[in-house]
Amino acid sequence: MASPSSLQLSSSLLLIAAVALLISPATSQTCKSQTFAQRNTKFSKCTDLPSLKAQLHWTYDPSARPSPTISVAFIAPPARPEGWVAWALNPTGSGMLGAQALIAFKDTNGSTVVKTYNISSYGSIAESTISYEVLGKRAEFSDGVMRIFATLALPTGDEKVNQVWQVGPSVKDGVPVKHDFSQENLNSKGTLQLVSKSVEQDKNGPAAAPTSSNGSGSPTGAQSGNDSGGSWRINASVLGLYGALVLLGVSLFLGF
Ligand SMILES: *[C@@H]1O[C@H](CO)[C@@H](O)[C@H](O)[C@H]1NC(C)=O
Ligand SMILES: *[C@@H]1O[C@H](CO)[C@@H](O)[C@H](O)[C@H]1NC(C)=O
Ligand SMILES: *[C@@H]1O[C@H](CO)[C@@H](O)[C@H](O)[C@H]1NC(C)=O
Repeated sequence: MASPSSLQLSSSLLLIAAVALLISPATSQTCKSQTFAQRNTKFSKCTDLPSLKAQLHWTYDPSARPSPTISVAFIAPPARPEGWVAWALNPTGSGMLGAQALIAFKDTNGSTVVKTYNISSYGSIAESTISYEVLGKRAEFSDGVMRIFATLALPTGDEKVNQVWQVGPSVKDGVPVKHDFSQENLNSKGTLQLVSKSVEQDKNGPAAAPTSSNGSGSPTGAQSGNDSGGSWRINASVLGLYGALVLLGVSLFLGF
């Protein structure tokens, strides 16, 4: 049997391992490594976007009533800690002009907020309504990344939408200041295929069936700011952590 001192050693190693496992999601941001602090946050798909170290977790619910919905978690590090991140759908073009944007930043009172902008020029921007009904939105800033959570109503029958994303360095008087124009900033757009054309491999493994239109997919359910129901993903990650610790403990005991 293990002596008291080896027990002590193994429990401190376990603590170190636990801390390391808890920290790792922040240091390696990809779809696979990301988990959400709030329970009940789960998406059926995730895309590691090709620029600006951004990810989009999303669930398209074509059967939501009265309109189909898309729930997203857009995650990216702002260009500087005091900066902003943005995610937009563009129903009229592929770039910034026409983008119906959600922009997250630290407001003048210190809260991380997400506001909507109808981007109609390359000049200054102003908060406004957008052409999509926003059924819920909130933002978080921690571990160097900002997260925009939002649910938008989409027109019936859209199979794909143009998306644009961006990060910026600062906010002045509550208004996001212009972003850089590096290649990465200019490449940050693409198509979001809502309805799979053929057999499209989902990065999270087999996709869960779209959430039913009853419950959180409906406008009232989405109002809470949560994006879709269920908490197995979080439970799975807790179980994963627990499982790793048990395995580590077993191997340490066998080693002594
Ligand atoms: C800051 O202002 C926003 C509105 O812009 C509000 O929702 C939030 O509650 C405020 N936060 C604090 C800490 O006052
Ligand atoms: C967005 O701006 C364009 C150009 O000014 C305008 O035509 C459109 O109606 C605006 N959309 C909304 C939802 O405000
Ligand atoms: C949604 O709820 C209605 C009434 O509560 C029920 O008739 C219907 O079968 C439900 N649909 C789904 C997909 O669960």
